[in-house]
Amino acid sequence: MGGKNGQLRVEEGILEEFERGLNPRRPEASRIPARVLGYGEISTVFQITHEGLENLAFKRLPVFREKREMDEYRRVYLDYNRLLIEEVGLRLPDYGYAELVTEQGRPVFYIIQERMPAESIGNRAIHLLDEEGVCSLVRKVLRELRKVWDFNREQDRLRVAVDGQISNWSIVGFDHRHPRVDEGAELLYLDTSTPLFRVDGVEQLDPELFLRSAPSFLVWILRMFFLEDVVNRYYDFRAVVIDLIANFYKEQRPELIPALVELANDFFAREAAHLRVRPIRAHDVASYYREDAFIWWFYLNLRRLDRFLRTRLLRKEYPYILPGKIRRR
Ligand SMILES: Nc1ncnc2c1ncn2[C@@H]1O[C@H](COP(=O)(O)OP(=O)(O)OP(=O)(O)O)[C@@H](O)[C@H]1O
Ligand SMILES: [Mg+2]
Repeated sequence: MGGKNGQLRVEEGILEEFERGLNPRRPEASRIPARVLGYGEISTVFQITHEGLENLAFKRLPVFREKREMDEYRRVYLDYNRLLIEEVGLRLPDYGYAELVTEQGRPVFYIIQERMPAESIGNRAIHLLDEEGVCSLVRKVLRELRKVWDFNREQDRLRVAVDGQISNWSIVGFDHRHPRVDEGAELLYLDTSTPLFRVDGVEQLDPELFLRSAPSFLVWILRMFFLEDVVNRYYDFRAVVIDLIANFYKEQRPELIPALVELANDFFAREAAHLRVRPIRAHDVASYYREDAFIWWFYLNLRRLDRFLRTRLLRKEYPYILPGKIRRR
């Protein structure tokens, strides 16, 4: 185990054993217990309580219908990570992956990352930092994001997307007893499981994969109304920043939003003037949040319904780990 640049691996067999005993409804009650580190909108990240695995974070993706799809995903995932590090200049935690096929024949891909301390991750850190600290953190996030859109502007062949949400960044060396974000502090970007980038205009990831975890009765609606919008959003600097700021509603610090809107506009006007981003209004953030919160609330509840139908009525397997109640304002 160990190693940099996509080389992080775990001993073969351990994940197979983990997978055999996994209780997706209650991961902590699995035969090899898992501790959830974070729920995203689509997937779950956890720590596996097993000797030698404690310092790793695992993100489980059970969305593939056949091995070939997983091979394709692996290629795009690794290319994306390399692009972010080598071309864009972001820092990532050490990372790697594992692949297996379950006894039921389901291919499962595991993203493996070095586990970062919980307090160092943006959505926790913003509750420890004062307003000035939060502003420094967000300014740093904006600088990292600018690298992506600078890269996109510099050349014609590639377009890279990222998700700027505050929960996607870890502050290197953050000390929760003396919470601060110094001028020299560095950020790691965590959220590489949705490797969105286009080569000569062609999306490399099959966006249909997002729809796999969606209830089958919903797939066509999502495909028609949401998929393209949701994907395009991540290629648009302004939209990514609105999303980042709107996050502060969900993370229960909405009082910071006016200051962050001002900060972002100041950043657009000075440090990112060459990118010509239209200023953001507080109103854009609020209406975006209302819509976004509704979409994900609606989506999660339909997934719960789908789980109920599949497991209770059809007595089938339901492979996804769903979050419990999410507190939102
Ligand atoms: N390497 C890591 N170390 C510690 N915690 C992590 C790590 N990676 C992720 N997490 C936790 O899990 C949460 C979700 O992870 P991540 O952002 O990668 O996925 P996501 O938001 O579920 O992505 P998506 O919605 O695109 O599937 C993070 O906000 C963080 O709290
Ligand atoms: Mg995330």
